[in-house]
Amino acid sequence: MIIYREENEIIKKALENLNIPKRVYIFDTTLRDGEQTPGVSLTPEEKIEIAIKLDELGVDVIEAGFPVSSLGEQEAIKKICSLNLDAEICGLARAVKKDIDVAIDCGVDRIHTFIATSPLHRKYKLKKSKEEIIDIAVEAIEYIKEHGIKVEFSAEDATRTELDYLIEVYKKAVETGADIINVPDTVGVMIPRAMYYLINELKKEIKVPISVHCHNDFGLAVANSLAAVEAGAEQVHCTINGLGERGGNAALEEVVMSLMSIYGVKTNIKTQKLYDISQLVSKYTEIKVQPNKAIVGENAFAHESGIHAHGVLAHALTYEPIPPELVGQKRKIILGKHTGTHAIEAKLKELGIEVGRDINKEQFEEIVKRIKSLGDKGKRVTDRDVEAIVEDVVGKLAKKDRVVELEQIAVMTGNKVIPTASVALKIEEEIKKSSAIGVGPVDAAVKAVQKAIGEKIKLKEYHINAITGGTDALAEVIVTLEGYGREITTKAASEDIVRASVEAVIDGINKILVKKEK
Ligand code: KIV
Ligand code: ZN
Repeated sequence: MIIYREENEIIKKALENLNIPKRVYIFDTTLRDGEQTPGVSLTPEEKIEIAIKLDELGVDVIEAGFPVSSLGEQEAIKKICSLNLDAEICGLARAVKKDIDVAIDCGVDRIHTFIATSPLHRKYKLKKSKEEIIDIAVEAIEYIKEHGIKVEFSAEDATRTELDYLIEVYKKAVETGADIINVPDTVGVMIPRAMYYLINELKKEIKVPISVHCHNDFGLAVANSLAAVEAGAEQVHCTINGLGERGGNAALEEVVMSLMSIYGVKTNIKTQKLYDISQLVSKYTEIKVQPNKAIVGENAFAHESGIHAHGVLAHALTYEPIPPELVGQKRKIILGKHTGTHAIEAKLKELGIEVGRDINKEQFEEIVKRIKSLGDKGKRVTDRDVEAIVEDVVGKLAKKDRVVELEQIAVMTGNKVIPTASVALKIEEEIKKSSAIGVGPVDAAVKAVQKAIGEKIKLKEYHINAITGGTDALAEVIVTLEGYGREITTKAASEDIVRASVEAVIDGINKILVKKEK
């Protein structure tokens, strides 16, 4: 696995003299803070399935929920605890006896207990003095320890708390028996430099492991978590897909991949499973992963521009910081208006079509033109679209063998208008124009072509398939024509069904006429 700290001189220099832990523990809170994402509510069965997958992924701690919040929550947490997973199972509890009792009753390995410490929370939410808050925290920690359960203590809104007081609270918590202290950036106001400073200060005073819990209100949750690790934090709270209250929490996949690939810090995560669990969580929470989301987004390893696709095909690291397989993803070469010939050639190869063997240069150029024109119309070109274009281009007779070409087509249709089509065909250097009416625009257009050609060629069958969904889908038209004692079936594809229909008919006519000449 590439480690940028070893390979990149700038990163190496920037991280010199820092006490970065060799191994960081991943505390996953998808099933607690992640479930607090507005609109998300998981059933006990869904929570259990996600917990099993988190365990397989290799997280060290699963915060399975907030036990006191509901009976369903307790049912799910109890079941998760009974599974004997490798991960430690943790339950959240306010620093109150009732919450702690319910968490103990669920059978958790660790209780994450918290009380707010910032002036804002003391004054408006808790209406308690600094001393009262310390007393409540101490009492809660003592009570949990009496039950022989591991305690993780959080000073809620730590990052907006007076530093001296925060240190005092954490020191008291550790003296009372807290096994690990967690530093929540509850409303995400930290910046990396400030987070580094805070953790560095705490490290001087606190002798148990330090954890961070960063929210993403300013989009800095991952950066702040990494800054905390740079200052020596040993554990990071995160969620799959960055779910969580408001702007969410630090995204697990981003924290883990940065730690492992940039810092060279070990975690227990089996990174190849990241994409699948991201999909599972997205399915159950019904929160879509944004396409440009780092690591697990659909575009994270997709390349469309000619320059990038060419680079990646020559050497993947040119435009990919890590191989997609490392996180369970696949490289995608997306065809569209920015696509270059290298990418199209590679895509054709992927579909089993080789330039020079299956198609000639002229056909390849036509395929490139058609793909780019589809992209120009704002369409994402799928593999099926490419196949239809190839079939269409390959199925056509070479220009020199064609007797009839479509020069122009105009169609009029609408409410209270009889569908009418006019076509101009070039038949052996002579332009022939005709128009016809029909039951619809396709019917009118096909009739206009037939009229120009004469009665000797007849349309026997007509089928249309939409290749991809949407009103801009590529349509494939298959026609069977009969004339001069022959029957020809041919097809054409275009995002315009009238055009596809006319082209299929003209192609069929060409094939009949060429055969007739021969
Ligand atoms: O963001 C927060 O402060 C929390 C606490 C419960 C730790 O989630
Ligand atoms: Zn939180």
